[in-house]
Amino acid sequence: MPNAYISGTGMFVPPRVVTNDQLAKEFGMDTTHEWIVQRTGIEERHYADEGVGTSDIAVPAAEQAIERAGIEKTDLDMIIFATLSPDHCFPGSGVYLQKKLGLCDGAAAKFVPALDVRNQCSGFLYGLSTATAMVKSGACKHVLVVGAEVHSHALDLSTRGRTVGSLFGDAAGAVVVSATDEDRGIRSWHLGADGRYADVLAQRIWDIKRFPFIPLDEHGVGQVQPEMMWAQMEGKLVFRNAIERMMTVLMEACVANGITGQDIDLFVFHQANLRINQYLQQHLGIPDEKVVHNIQKYGNTTAATIPTLLAEAEQSGKLKRGMKVAMIAFGSGFTWGCVIADW
Ligand code: ACO
Repeated sequence: MPNAYISGTGMFVPPRVVTNDQLAKEFGMDTTHEWIVQRTGIEERHYADEGVGTSDIAVPAAEQAIERAGIEKTDLDMIIFATLSPDHCFPGSGVYLQKKLGLCDGAAAKFVPALDVRNQCSGFLYGLSTATAMVKSGACKHVLVVGAEVHSHALDLSTRGRTVGSLFGDAAGAVVVSATDEDRGIRSWHLGADGRYADVLAQRIWDIKRFPFIPLDEHGVGQVQPEMMWAQMEGKLVFRNAIERMMTVLMEACVANGITGQDIDLFVFHQANLRINQYLQQHLGIPDEKVVHNIQKYGNTTAATIPTLLAEAEQSGKLKRGMKVAMIAFGSGFTWGCVIADW
């Protein structure tokens, strides 16, 4: 059975930067830079322009990962796309990405499967685990795993939505998972979910229980109430559960691999709130040099946080061959996961 390793990483953020002050000045949100930094660590985030969708920003991230893996696009055997902000309700963003990568063109067209993953902030780790299983089983040699979000177009940036609106940003990250006979790669994955909390952090704009699913006015035009249109979150409950679940799943992964936290060279935590990660770091006694963050620059980019961190850490030289890496995420659902890899 081959091992599965991450052969290439890539990322992209849209160029437009929106600072905390701009949220107040340009969007009229009653907030301050100090409030947001103190509670979350976020200083600024990037927003995609009107007309740019999630699969669009995934293209440069995917192309970079493919190039850094040293393969051609046509070497891919599968695409896995994790997002909570897909281009449309359906089809999933994976097929749009496949087309935009040019995989459906010309004589070399390769109609590989495209799977969409809907596990919010844990989506990338769910996708990475699936890719690993596909590679280890021998079904695939190279799988592209993308985590990408255009959150900004679906955020309530008024004062009403400030608790959620100030947190999120747009970004795309990608990795290629490849087969190898070398003794390296993804050692184990540990995923979990607790559907009792499904409504604690949710955007319920599409409610299929309704008939029709979006109520209509007398002219047949869809009417969406603000609490249906915008994501709703019980922030404190999310905060507490994030800490508990991330800590537990990391322990579970360490036990399964016969290692302790001290054997891990780099911790790549999901970036929901800098305070969550600082709490974990403090309680687990993890030194600063073993942790990477990017929430200060990008906000919470949901499925994109871990692959963008991997790409940045690899490109800056912080993540090197031979290091033991722990990737840990928690998000809406609730869902969570931890993946241990020897880089
Ligand atoms: N600026 C100024 N004031 C604000 C802002 C803001 N951006 N956001 C909220 N407030 C106000 C609230 O309106 C409230 O005011 P009130 O007391 O007059 O009603 C006050 O601040 C306190 O609000 P809380 O929600 O109680 O603030 P809290 O200390 O819990 O911090 C936060 C909020 C930062 C969102 C925190 O709860 C948190 O980070 N939770 C975790 C969130 C998270 O991880 N979410 C992503 C999960 S990932 C995924 O799957 C998508």
